[in-house]
Amino acid sequence: MSKFAVMGHGVVGSGTVELFLKNKERINSRQGTDLELGYILDIRDFPGLPYSDRFTKDINDILNDDDVTVVAEVMGGVNPAFDFVKKCLERGKSVCTSNKELVAKKGAELIALAKAHNCNFLFEASTGGAIPLIRPLHKDLAGNEITAVEGILNGTTNYILTQMIEHSTPFEKALSDAQAKGYAEKDPTADVEGHDACRKICIISSLVYGKHVYPDSVHTEGITKITAADAAYAKANGYAVKLIGSVKKLDDGRIFPLVAPRFVPFSNQLAFVNDVFNGVMVYGNGFDEVMFYGKGAGKLPTASAVLGDVIECAETKGTILSATWEDSTDDSFIADYRDQKVRMYIRLIGVTESEASKAFPGAEFLKGAKDGETAFITAEEKESAINDRLEAFDGFVAGKIRVL
Ligand code: HSE
Repeated sequence: MSKFAVMGHGVVGSGTVELFLKNKERINSRQGTDLELGYILDIRDFPGLPYSDRFTKDINDILNDDDVTVVAEVMGGVNPAFDFVKKCLERGKSVCTSNKELVAKKGAELIALAKAHNCNFLFEASTGGAIPLIRPLHKDLAGNEITAVEGILNGTTNYILTQMIEHSTPFEKALSDAQAKGYAEKDPTADVEGHDACRKICIISSLVYGKHVYPDSVHTEGITKITAADAAYAKANGYAVKLIGSVKKLDDGRIFPLVAPRFVPFSNQLAFVNDVFNGVMVYGNGFDEVMFYGKGAGKLPTASAVLGDVIECAETKGTILSATWEDSTDDSFIADYRDQKVRMYIRLIGVTESEASKAFPGAEFLKGAKDGETAFITAEEKESAINDRLEAFDGFVAGKIRVL
Protein backbone atom coordinates (compact mmCIF):
# COMPACT_ATOMS: atom_id res chain seq x y z
CA MET A 1 0.00 0.00 0.00
CA SER A 2 1.16 3.57 -0.78
CA LYS A 3 -0.22 5.97 1.76
CA PHE A 4 -0.17 9.62 0.94
CA ALA A 5 -0.56 12.56 3.27
CA VAL A 6 -2.00 16.01 2.65
CA MET A 7 -0.42 18.93 4.49
CA GLY A 8 -3.02 21.71 4.75
CA HIS A 9 -6.82 21.44 4.57
CA GLY A 10 -7.57 24.79 2.94
CA VAL A 11 -9.12 25.28 -0.50
CA VAL A 12 -6.62 23.14 -2.42
CA GLY A 13 -6.06 20.62 0.38
CA SER A 14 -9.75 19.89 0.87
CA GLY A 15 -10.13 19.74 -2.92
CA THR A 16 -7.31 17.19 -3.16
CA VAL A 17 -8.97 14.97 -0.55
CA GLU A 18 -12.39 15.38 -2.16
CA LEU A 19 -11.16 14.55 -5.66
CA PHE A 20 -9.12 11.58 -4.46
CA LEU A 21 -11.99 10.06 -2.48
CA LYS A 22 -14.37 10.64 -5.39
CA ASN A 23 -12.09 8.92 -7.92
CA LYS A 24 -10.08 6.55 -5.72
CA GLU A 25 -11.32 3.23 -7.14
CA ARG A 26 -10.90 4.45 -10.67
CA ILE A 27 -7.42 5.85 -10.02
CA ASN A 28 -6.11 2.69 -8.39
CA SER A 29 -7.59 0.32 -10.95
CA ARG A 30 -6.63 2.35 -14.03
CA GLN A 31 -3.19 3.45 -12.87
CA GLY A 32 -2.25 0.20 -11.17
CA THR A 33 -1.61 1.96 -7.87
CA ASP A 34 -2.71 1.17 -4.34
CA LEU A 35 -2.99 4.72 -3.05
CA GLU A 36 -4.68 5.33 0.27
CA LEU A 37 -5.19 8.62 2.10
CA GLY A 38 -3.15 8.31 5.28
CA TYR A 39 -3.12 11.66 7.03
CA ILE A 40 -4.27 15.25 6.72
CA LEU A 41 -2.11 17.70 8.64
CA ASP A 42 -3.80 20.87 9.88
CA ILE A 43 -3.77 22.77 13.17
CA ARG A 44 -7.52 23.38 12.87
CA ASP A 45 -10.30 20.92 13.78
CA PHE A 46 -12.68 19.66 11.10
CA PRO A 47 -15.32 17.60 12.92
CA GLY A 48 -18.10 15.82 11.08
CA LEU A 49 -16.27 15.10 7.83
CA PRO A 50 -16.41 11.52 6.50
CA TYR A 51 -12.60 11.46 6.78
CA SER A 52 -12.25 13.25 10.15
CA ASP A 53 -10.30 10.29 11.54
CA ARG A 54 -7.38 11.06 9.19
CA PHE A 55 -6.53 14.45 10.71
CA THR A 56 -3.41 15.03 12.73
CA LYS A 57 -1.79 18.14 14.15
CA ASP A 58 1.62 16.48 14.43
CA ILE A 59 3.89 16.19 11.37
CA ASN A 60 5.77 13.38 13.12
CA ASP A 61 2.79 11.09 12.47
CA ILE A 62 3.52 11.51 8.76
CA LEU A 63 7.29 11.43 9.06
CA ASN A 64 7.36 8.30 11.22
CA ASP A 65 4.94 6.25 9.10
CA ASP A 66 7.03 4.30 6.58
CA ASP A 67 3.94 3.50 4.54
CA VAL A 68 3.62 7.19 3.65
CA THR A 69 5.67 7.54 0.48
CA VAL A 70 4.12 10.70 -0.97
CA VAL A 71 3.10 13.97 0.66
CA ALA A 72 1.01 16.72 -0.95
CA GLU A 73 2.04 20.12 0.43
CA VAL A 74 -0.86 22.50 -0.11
CA MET A 75 -0.39 24.86 2.81
CA GLY A 76 0.98 27.84 0.87
CA GLY A 77 3.66 30.29 2.01
CA VAL A 78 7.29 29.53 2.78
CA ASN A 79 6.94 28.96 6.53
CA PRO A 80 6.37 26.39 7.90
CA ALA A 81 5.95 24.66 4.51
CA PHE A 82 9.69 24.79 3.71
CA ASP A 83 10.63 23.14 6.99
CA PHE A 84 7.94 20.45 6.64
CA VAL A 85 8.84 19.70 3.02
CA LYS A 86 12.52 19.41 3.88
CA LYS A 87 11.74 16.95 6.66
CA CYS A 88 9.62 14.81 4.32
CA LEU A 89 12.28 14.76 1.60
CA GLU A 90 15.00 13.91 4.12
CA ARG A 91 12.93 10.84 5.06
CA GLY A 92 12.77 9.86 1.38
CA LYS A 93 9.11 10.81 0.98
CA SER A 94 8.30 12.49 -2.33
CA VAL A 95 6.55 15.86 -2.10
CA CYS A 96 4.01 17.28 -4.58
CA THR A 97 3.19 20.92 -4.06
CA SER A 98 0.86 23.63 -5.31
CA ASN A 99 2.92 26.22 -3.42
CA LYS A 100 4.37 28.59 -6.01
CA GLU A 101 6.01 30.82 -3.43
CA LEU A 102 7.90 27.83 -2.04
CA VAL A 103 9.05 26.65 -5.48
CA ALA A 104 9.97 30.15 -6.67
CA LYS A 105 12.02 30.87 -3.56
CA LYS A 106 13.39 27.44 -2.60
CA GLY A 107 12.97 25.25 -5.69
CA ALA A 108 16.65 24.64 -6.51
CA GLU A 109 17.39 23.60 -2.93
CA LEU A 110 14.38 21.31 -2.62
CA ILE A 111 14.97 19.61 -5.96
CA ALA A 112 18.58 18.90 -4.94
CA LEU A 113 17.43 17.59 -1.57
CA ALA A 114 14.88 15.28 -3.20
CA LYS A 115 17.54 13.87 -5.52
CA ALA A 116 19.94 13.33 -2.63
CA HIS A 117 17.27 11.25 -0.88
CA ASN A 118 16.14 9.35 -3.98
CA CYS A 119 12.67 10.83 -4.05
CA ASN A 120 10.85 13.57 -5.94
CA PHE A 121 9.80 17.16 -5.54
CA LEU A 122 7.04 17.81 -8.07
CA PHE A 123 5.10 21.04 -8.58
CA GLU A 124 2.71 20.77 -11.53
CA ALA A 125 -0.02 22.50 -9.47
CA SER A 126 2.19 25.51 -8.74
CA THR A 127 1.75 27.02 -12.20
CA GLY A 128 -1.35 27.20 -14.36
CA GLY A 129 -3.76 25.44 -11.96
CA ALA A 130 -5.28 22.47 -13.77
CA ILE A 131 -3.22 22.97 -16.94
CA PRO A 132 -0.56 20.34 -17.56
CA LEU A 133 2.35 22.72 -18.12
CA ILE A 134 5.36 21.83 -15.96
CA ARG A 135 5.48 18.20 -17.11
CA PRO A 136 5.17 19.06 -20.84
CA LEU A 137 7.87 21.73 -20.51
CA HIS A 138 10.13 19.28 -18.70
CA LYS A 139 9.34 16.16 -20.74
CA ASP A 140 7.29 16.41 -23.94
CA LEU A 141 9.03 19.51 -25.28
CA ALA A 142 12.50 18.52 -24.02
CA GLY A 143 13.77 17.93 -27.54
CA ASN A 144 13.58 21.63 -28.33
CA GLU A 145 15.16 24.86 -27.28
CA ILE A 146 12.37 26.94 -25.76
CA THR A 147 12.80 30.44 -27.13
CA ALA A 148 9.97 32.16 -25.24
CA VAL A 149 7.00 31.63 -22.97
CA GLU A 150 4.19 34.16 -22.65
CA GLY A 151 1.09 33.64 -20.61
CA ILE A 152 -1.80 34.63 -18.45
CA LEU A 153 -0.65 32.98 -15.24
CA ASN A 154 -2.96 34.41 -12.60
CA GLY A 155 -6.62 33.43 -12.56
CA THR A 156 -7.68 36.07 -10.04
CA THR A 157 -6.45 39.06 -12.04
CA ASN A 158 -7.72 37.61 -15.29
CA TYR A 159 -11.13 37.15 -13.65
CA ILE A 160 -11.04 40.71 -12.28
CA LEU A 161 -9.99 42.23 -15.63
CA THR A 162 -12.69 40.28 -17.48
CA GLN A 163 -15.37 41.37 -15.01
CA MET A 164 -14.21 45.00 -15.08
CA ILE A 165 -13.79 45.31 -18.84
CA GLU A 166 -16.56 43.07 -20.18
CA HIS A 167 -19.20 43.56 -17.47
CA SER A 168 -18.25 46.97 -15.98
CA THR A 169 -17.98 45.37 -12.52
CA PRO A 170 -16.13 47.59 -10.01
CA PHE A 171 -12.63 46.35 -9.04
CA GLU A 172 -13.51 45.69 -5.37
CA LYS A 173 -16.61 43.65 -6.27
CA ALA A 174 -14.69 41.61 -8.86
CA LEU A 175 -11.96 40.93 -6.31
CA SER A 176 -14.37 39.84 -3.58
CA ASP A 177 -16.10 37.52 -6.09
CA ALA A 178 -12.70 36.00 -6.95
CA GLN A 179 -12.02 35.47 -3.23
CA ALA A 180 -15.44 33.87 -2.71
CA LYS A 181 -14.76 31.48 -5.60
CA GLY A 182 -11.47 30.38 -3.98
CA TYR A 183 -9.24 31.85 -6.69
CA ALA A 184 -7.39 34.55 -4.75
CA GLU A 185 -4.41 34.20 -2.44
CA LYS A 186 -4.94 34.63 1.33
CA ASP A 187 -3.56 38.13 0.85
CA PRO A 188 -4.87 39.09 -2.60
CA THR A 189 -2.17 41.76 -2.90
CA ALA A 190 0.00 38.93 -4.23
CA ASP A 191 -2.49 38.53 -7.09
CA VAL A 192 -3.27 42.15 -7.96
CA GLU A 193 0.32 43.39 -7.63
CA GLY A 194 1.61 40.62 -9.89
CA HIS A 195 3.68 38.74 -7.28
CA ASP A 196 1.83 35.47 -7.85
CA ALA A 197 2.36 35.66 -11.63
CA CYS A 198 5.99 36.60 -10.93
CA ARG A 199 6.51 33.43 -8.85
CA LYS A 200 5.05 31.39 -11.71
CA ILE A 201 7.25 32.98 -14.37
CA CYS A 202 10.24 32.34 -12.06
CA ILE A 203 9.31 28.65 -11.94
CA ILE A 204 8.84 28.46 -15.71
CA SER A 205 12.10 30.35 -16.37
CA SER A 206 14.11 28.20 -13.98
CA LEU A 207 12.70 25.02 -15.49
CA VAL A 208 13.18 26.08 -19.09
CA TYR A 209 16.57 27.80 -18.83
CA GLY A 210 18.16 25.66 -16.11
CA LYS A 211 19.11 28.30 -13.55
CA HIS A 212 17.08 29.47 -10.57
CA VAL A 213 15.35 32.78 -11.25
CA TYR A 214 14.42 34.46 -7.97
CA PRO A 215 11.35 36.73 -7.75
CA ASP A 216 13.42 39.78 -6.75
CA SER A 217 15.18 39.65 -10.12
CA VAL A 218 12.00 39.95 -12.18
CA HIS A 219 10.49 43.35 -12.93
CA THR A 220 6.85 43.03 -11.85
CA GLU A 221 3.84 45.29 -12.27
CA GLY A 222 0.26 44.45 -11.28
CA ILE A 223 -3.14 45.49 -12.58
CA THR A 224 -3.99 48.33 -10.19
CA LYS A 225 -3.09 51.13 -12.61
CA ILE A 226 -5.26 49.85 -15.47
CA THR A 227 -8.25 52.14 -16.02
CA ALA A 228 -11.54 51.67 -17.85
CA ALA A 229 -10.38 54.37 -20.29
CA ASP A 230 -7.26 52.36 -21.23
CA ALA A 231 -9.34 49.21 -21.65
CA ALA A 232 -11.78 51.12 -23.91
CA TYR A 233 -8.93 52.30 -26.17
CA ALA A 234 -7.63 48.75 -26.30
CA LYS A 235 -10.97 47.26 -27.31
CA ALA A 236 -11.73 49.94 -29.92
CA ASN A 237 -8.38 49.32 -31.59
CA GLY A 238 -8.20 45.52 -31.61
CA TYR A 239 -6.50 44.70 -28.32
CA ALA A 240 -7.35 43.13 -24.95
CA VAL A 241 -5.62 44.18 -21.73
CA LYS A 242 -4.11 41.20 -19.89
CA LEU A 243 -1.58 40.63 -17.12
CA ILE A 244 1.17 38.70 -18.89
CA GLY A 245 4.10 36.81 -17.44
CA SER A 246 6.76 36.29 -20.07
CA VAL A 247 10.31 35.14 -20.51
CA LYS A 248 12.48 34.92 -23.59
CA LYS A 249 16.00 33.90 -24.44
CA LEU A 250 18.10 36.76 -25.80
CA ASP A 251 20.75 36.41 -28.50
CA ASP A 252 23.50 37.11 -25.95
CA GLY A 253 22.41 34.07 -23.88
CA ARG A 254 20.75 36.04 -21.11
CA ILE A 255 17.03 35.75 -20.41
CA PHE A 256 14.41 38.47 -20.11
CA PRO A 257 11.56 37.71 -17.70
CA LEU A 258 8.81 40.28 -17.10
CA VAL A 259 5.40 40.48 -15.43
CA ALA A 260 3.25 43.40 -16.53
CA PRO A 261 -0.10 44.33 -18.03
CA ARG A 262 0.03 44.22 -21.83
CA PHE A 263 -2.09 45.30 -24.79
CA VAL A 264 -2.60 41.90 -26.45
CA PRO A 265 -3.62 42.09 -30.13
CA PHE A 266 -6.73 40.16 -31.16
CA SER A 267 -4.44 38.19 -33.52
CA ASN A 268 -2.96 36.52 -30.38
CA GLN A 269 -5.12 33.79 -28.79
CA LEU A 270 -4.22 35.03 -25.33
CA ALA A 271 -6.52 38.00 -26.00
CA PHE A 272 -9.49 35.62 -25.72
CA VAL A 273 -8.48 33.86 -22.50
CA ASN A 274 -11.02 35.16 -20.00
CA ASP A 275 -12.24 34.79 -16.42
CA VAL A 276 -10.30 32.34 -14.25
CA PHE A 277 -8.75 30.65 -17.26
CA ASN A 278 -5.01 30.78 -17.85
CA GLY A 279 -3.41 30.53 -21.26
CA VAL A 280 0.25 29.99 -22.00
CA MET A 281 1.97 30.26 -25.39
CA VAL A 282 5.26 28.39 -25.63
CA TYR A 283 7.65 28.95 -28.53
CA GLY A 284 10.42 26.50 -29.44
CA ASN A 285 12.86 25.78 -32.23
CA GLY A 286 11.24 22.49 -33.27
CA PHE A 287 7.54 22.63 -32.45
CA ASP A 288 7.23 26.33 -33.35
CA GLU A 289 4.40 27.18 -30.96
CA VAL A 290 1.94 25.44 -28.68
CA MET A 291 -0.77 26.87 -26.49
CA PHE A 292 -1.86 25.56 -23.09
CA TYR A 293 -5.28 26.55 -21.78
CA GLY A 294 -7.42 25.71 -18.76
CA LYS A 295 -8.63 26.79 -15.35
CA GLY A 296 -5.73 28.47 -13.59
CA ALA A 297 -7.09 28.56 -10.05
CA GLY A 298 -9.80 27.09 -7.85
CA LYS A 299 -10.32 24.12 -5.58
CA LEU A 300 -10.78 21.09 -7.82
CA PRO A 301 -8.83 22.33 -10.86
CA THR A 302 -5.73 22.83 -8.70
CA ALA A 303 -6.40 19.59 -6.81
CA SER A 304 -6.42 17.81 -10.18
CA ALA A 305 -2.81 18.85 -10.79
CA VAL A 306 -1.73 17.93 -7.24
CA LEU A 307 -3.30 14.51 -7.57
CA GLY A 308 -1.64 13.93 -10.96
CA ASP A 309 1.75 14.39 -9.31
CA VAL A 310 0.82 12.19 -6.33
CA ILE A 311 -0.29 9.41 -8.67
CA GLU A 312 2.88 9.66 -10.75
CA CYS A 313 5.02 9.36 -7.61
CA ALA A 314 3.05 6.29 -6.52
CA GLU A 315 3.34 4.73 -9.97
CA THR A 316 7.07 5.24 -10.30
CA LYS A 317 8.39 4.68 -6.77
CA GLY A 318 12.19 4.88 -6.70
CA THR A 319 12.45 6.72 -10.02
CA ILE A 320 13.76 10.26 -10.09
CA LEU A 321 11.30 12.36 -12.07
CA SER A 322 12.08 15.86 -10.90
CA ALA A 323 13.25 18.54 -13.24
CA THR A 324 16.67 19.92 -12.40
CA TRP A 325 17.97 23.42 -12.37
CA GLU A 326 21.07 24.97 -10.83
CA ASP A 327 20.90 27.46 -8.05
CA SER A 328 22.05 30.97 -8.97
CA THR A 329 24.20 33.27 -6.89
CA ASP A 330 23.66 36.44 -8.91
CA ASP A 331 21.25 37.65 -11.57
CA SER A 332 23.72 38.72 -14.26
CA PHE A 333 22.00 36.25 -16.63
CA ILE A 334 18.80 38.30 -16.39
CA ALA A 335 18.43 41.28 -18.71
CA ASP A 336 17.20 44.70 -17.55
CA TYR A 337 13.73 45.45 -18.90
CA ARG A 338 14.71 49.07 -19.61
CA ASP A 339 17.20 47.88 -22.25
CA GLN A 340 14.64 45.83 -24.14
CA LYS A 341 12.79 47.01 -27.22
CA VAL A 342 9.07 47.46 -26.81
CA ARG A 343 6.05 49.22 -28.28
CA MET A 344 4.14 51.20 -25.67
CA TYR A 345 0.52 52.34 -25.50
CA ILE A 346 0.48 55.88 -24.08
CA ARG A 347 -2.45 58.12 -23.16
CA LEU A 348 -1.72 61.81 -22.63
CA ILE A 349 -4.13 64.40 -21.22
CA GLY A 350 -4.00 67.97 -22.54
CA VAL A 351 -1.59 67.07 -25.34
CA THR A 352 -2.48 67.28 -29.03
CA GLU A 353 -1.76 64.63 -31.62
CA SER A 354 0.65 66.96 -33.38
CA GLU A 355 2.60 67.63 -30.15
CA ALA A 356 2.75 63.91 -29.40
CA SER A 357 3.79 62.97 -32.94
CA LYS A 358 6.78 65.34 -32.78
CA ALA A 359 8.02 63.62 -29.64
CA PHE A 360 7.14 60.11 -30.81
CA PRO A 361 7.94 59.72 -34.53
CA GLY A 362 6.26 56.67 -36.03
CA ALA A 363 3.51 56.60 -33.36
CA GLU A 364 0.24 54.95 -34.39
CA PHE A 365 -2.63 57.11 -33.10
CA LEU A 366 -5.64 55.25 -31.73
CA LYS A 367 -9.29 55.53 -32.67
CA GLY A 368 -11.78 56.86 -30.17
CA ALA A 369 -9.71 59.68 -28.60
CA LYS A 370 -11.75 61.83 -26.26
CA ASP A 371 -11.59 65.62 -26.33
CA GLY A 372 -8.45 66.87 -24.65
CA GLU A 373 -6.54 63.61 -24.78
CA THR A 374 -4.34 61.69 -27.17
CA ALA A 375 -3.73 57.95 -27.22
CA PHE A 376 -1.15 56.19 -29.37
CA ILE A 377 1.19 53.23 -29.65
CA THR A 378 4.84 54.12 -30.04
CA ALA A 379 7.22 52.75 -32.61
CA GLU A 380 9.41 49.98 -31.23
CA GLU A 381 12.43 51.17 -29.30
CA LYS A 382 14.22 50.64 -25.99
CA GLU A 383 11.94 51.19 -23.02
CA SER A 384 14.48 53.62 -21.51
CA ALA A 385 14.32 55.74 -24.70
CA ILE A 386 10.51 55.84 -24.53
CA ASN A 387 10.74 56.93 -20.90
CA ASP A 388 13.23 59.67 -21.88
CA ARG A 389 10.78 60.99 -24.49
CA LEU A 390 7.98 60.92 -21.91
CA GLU A 391 9.89 63.20 -19.55
CA ALA A 392 8.70 66.17 -21.62
CA PHE A 393 5.11 65.18 -20.72
CA ASP A 394 5.59 64.85 -16.97
CA GLY A 395 2.20 65.29 -15.28
CA PHE A 396 0.24 64.62 -18.50
CA VAL A 397 0.61 60.83 -18.69
CA ALA A 398 -2.72 59.11 -17.85
CA GLY A 399 -1.95 55.62 -19.17
CA LYS A 400 1.10 53.59 -20.17
CA ILE A 401 0.91 49.88 -21.03
CA ARG A 402 3.38 47.72 -22.99
CA VAL A 403 2.16 46.01 -26.16
CA LEU A 404 2.71 42.25 -26.50
N1 HSE B 1 -4.27 33.05 -6.70
C1 HSE B 1 -3.81 32.19 -7.74
C2 HSE B 1 -4.46 32.64 -9.04
C3 HSE B 1 -4.18 30.78 -7.42
O1 HSE B 1 -5.44 33.38 -8.98
O2 HSE B 1 -3.99 32.28 -10.10
C4 HSE B 1 -3.63 29.75 -8.36
O3 HSE B 1 -2.23 29.73 -8.35
